[in-house]
Amino acid sequence: MSAMTAMGALAVRSVLLLAALLPPVLPSAARAGEVEVLHFWASGGEAQAVAQLKATLRANGHTWKDFAIADGGGGLAVVMLDSRVRSGNPPTAAQIKGVAIQEWARTGKLSGIEDVASAERWNAVLPRLVSDTMKYRGHYVAAPLNVHRVNWLWINAAVLRKAGAKVPATWDEFFAAAEAIRRAGITPVAYGGQSWLDMGTFESVAIGVGGVDFYKKAFLELDRAALGSPAMEKTLQTYRRLKSYTDQRNMGRDWVAATAMLNRGAAGMLIMGDWAKAEMLAAGKRPGTDILCTPTPGSREVFSFDIDSIVLFDVAADKKAAQRDLARAVMGRDFQQAFNLAKGSIPARLDVPLDRFDACARRARQDFQHSARRGTLLPSVAHGMAHPAHTVAPLWDVVQQFWNQDRMTPREAMARLVAAAGQKPAAAR
Ligand code: GAL
Repeated sequence: MSAMTAMGALAVRSVLLLAALLPPVLPSAARAGEVEVLHFWASGGEAQAVAQLKATLRANGHTWKDFAIADGGGGLAVVMLDSRVRSGNPPTAAQIKGVAIQEWARTGKLSGIEDVASAERWNAVLPRLVSDTMKYRGHYVAAPLNVHRVNWLWINAAVLRKAGAKVPATWDEFFAAAEAIRRAGITPVAYGGQSWLDMGTFESVAIGVGGVDFYKKAFLELDRAALGSPAMEKTLQTYRRLKSYTDQRNMGRDWVAATAMLNRGAAGMLIMGDWAKAEMLAAGKRPGTDILCTPTPGSREVFSFDIDSIVLFDVAADKKAAQRDLARAVMGRDFQQAFNLAKGSIPARLDVPLDRFDACARRARQDFQHSARRGTLLPSVAHGMAHPAHTVAPLWDVVQQFWNQDRMTPREAMARLVAAAGQKPAAAR
């Protein structure tokens, strides 16, 4: 199927889903209001997912004002948001996630949504980890849209067959598969070279090479001994080795372009969170069949997560009804199904059945639940789930420099990581 036909099919699917979401009676015009939502879902597939939210709000009689910042990972979006709030003109809502939720709540600029959450029994339908992330001092200040798994390895099935390789479970097997793909004349690994992508890949390598306790010590506690340990050295060596299987023109490449390489078979493998599925679907590829999914090498027992959510800002009284409808809509069961089918993630609500989802999503939910029991649900540093951006920015820089500068040795990088951890503000320790 061509990309255009696939987009067409996706659009038809969206319209059908939308029809199912429309409420039987439109609410009175008195409740109608404008919602302006800042987000960074700008790629073709992501836009399909946001269209679900827009449609749900419009069906409730509200108008949607898009405040989209095309910037995967959302760094620029945060800067724009900051300046809007500082100038006393916040949007109705913004795509804010992870520990940034707490940071925004502390400024006193958010509008709490505990009333909506308790009326709709959010505590009963969300996993504890998700509801805790949405709360400030025990009260909801954010609404979750989904759970993304970060530690995924995607493999183009046709390329794998051509190379005669098998799906790798360990790093040794990964490099064996990469060799075979190279021998078949294809770039083994598609790589997006932006700093949040470097960090995302690096943390997945660290989990697989050093294990869960190492990841917790080095990345969550920012423990200097762990950052300077043999496990870190091995992580850096493995990350450098990975580079030798990329096409070397990856600096600055975004995740959409990297996913496109995998989709069209210009590369065999890709390490990326499951938002990549939105682009696979848009290109007419079936995740789980045309593009295989498996946990990144050595991370079968782990689920590293990235939870998307929206926070609501304190806005004028005439905008409050629309704002609360937005919070309700985000947590609606039908909405969570439609949104996540398009987005590639799994619904945050546990009571949304996955029968219409692909095998990768079903595996994600199963692994999420197993990991929750085992204590191996790991917050992704690259996605702001563990530390505020300013705390880890120096570490991100080291990882990016190490990727881009082949002269930097793993030992030098380790010394810099240890120093970078020392730069973090005392309050964050
Ligand atoms: C992540 C976000 C995902 C996805 C991805 C690429 O940070 O949580 O929803 O959009 O960036 O834009």
